[in-house]
Amino acid sequence: MKVLVTGGTGLIGRALVNGMLADGYEVTVLTRQALESQGSLQFVRSLTDVPEGLDAVVNLAGAGLADRRWSAQYKHEIRDSRIALTRDLVDQLRSKGMPRVFLSGSAIGFYGADNNKVFTELDGAGTGFSARLCADWETEARRIESESTRLVLLRTGVVLDATGGAFPQMTQSFKFGVSSWMGQGSHWLSWIHIDDMVAAIRFCLENSGVRGAVNMTAPEPVTHRVFADAVSARRLTLLKLGMPALVMRLMLGEMADELLLTGQKVVPNALIAAGFTHSHPNIDSAVESLM
Ligand SMILES: NC(=O)c1ccc[n+]([C@@H]2O[C@H](COP(=O)([O-])OP(=O)(O)OC[C@H]3O[C@@H](n4cnc5c(N)ncnc54)[C@H](OP(=O)(O)O)[C@@H]3O)[C@@H](O)[C@H]2O)c1
Repeated sequence: MKVLVTGGTGLIGRALVNGMLADGYEVTVLTRQALESQGSLQFVRSLTDVPEGLDAVVNLAGAGLADRRWSAQYKHEIRDSRIALTRDLVDQLRSKGMPRVFLSGSAIGFYGADNNKVFTELDGAGTGFSARLCADWETEARRIESESTRLVLLRTGVVLDATGGAFPQMTQSFKFGVSSWMGQGSHWLSWIHIDDMVAAIRFCLENSGVRGAVNMTAPEPVTHRVFADAVSARRLTLLKLGMPALVMRLMLGEMADELLLTGQKVVPNALIAAGFTHSHPNIDSAVESLM
C-alpha cells in the first residue's frame, strides 16, 4: 500500500508511520523539515513532489492548538496550516490521481463546548474558534469525496501519550505530590490512548465500510476531576487543587476558555458500530499503561 501522511513527524503521525513501515507499507511524509528518506520511507517538502499512484492519504498536518497563546497571527497560522494545506493537497491529488481513501484530520472541538450534552457523529458544528476551524477544515476535505475516493473525517479527542501531547503536561504537578485540574474540573475530557488512536486510523484505512465523520475517542469520557483521581491513585498525593480559571485566562487568554476550561462529552459511535474494539476503553486502563 502506498500512503501519504501529512503531519507524519508529529505525535500521532510518527506512531502511525512507524506501524505502517513495520507492516510493509510504502510511506511518503510531507514535512517542512529537511529529513533524509530511507528505505520505504520518503520525505517530501513540497506538494509537487508527492508521488503518483497513492492508495491512501492521511492528512494530519497543522500548527499545534495548545502550543502558544492565540494571537491573531497564530490563529491565522492554525487555520492556514490546515485549511489552505488541505485545499492545496486536494487540488494536487486531482492532477496526480485520486487515492482510494482519504483520512482527514479534525477534532472534537467541532462540536463546541457543552457540559451536559453527549455528542455523536450526527451532531452539527458548535460555535467558537475551534468549532469553526474544524468545520472549515472538514469542508475543504469533503471536496475530494467521490464514488472512487472514500473520505473519513477524524474527529479526534485528546490523545494521551506518555511522551508527548497533553498527558505529560496534565500530569506534571503529580510528580511533586500535587493532584491538580483546571478550573472546577467538572468539564469533560474526551480522550483516546495513542495506541487506540493509531489502531483506529488503521481500522478506518482498511475498512471500506467506514466513511464520513468518525469520533476518535474512548467510549468512556471522564471529567477532569476524575482524570486527576485516576492519576493520583497511582502517585503519592500530598495536595489536591484546581488551577483557578481566572489565572489561566490571564495567562493563556481565549485558548484557556476553549481548550482547557471547557470540554465536550463525545462518544465513538461510528467506530463501535463498525466493529472497532478499544484496547483502553476506560481512563484507569489508559493511565495505568501510560504511567
Ligand atoms: N494530539 C491531540 O491530542 C489531537 C487532538 C485533536 C486533534 N488533533 C489533530 O490531529 C493532527 C495531528 O496531531 P498531532 O498531535 O500529531 O500534531 P503535532 O504533534 O503537533 O504534529 C503536527 C505536524 O504538523 C506539521 N505542522 C506544524 N505546524 C505546521 C505549519 N504551520 N504548517 C504546516 N505543517 C505544520 C508538523 O510537521 P513538520 O514539522 O514535519 O512539517 C507537525 O509534525 C493535528 O492536526 C491536530 O490538530 C490532535
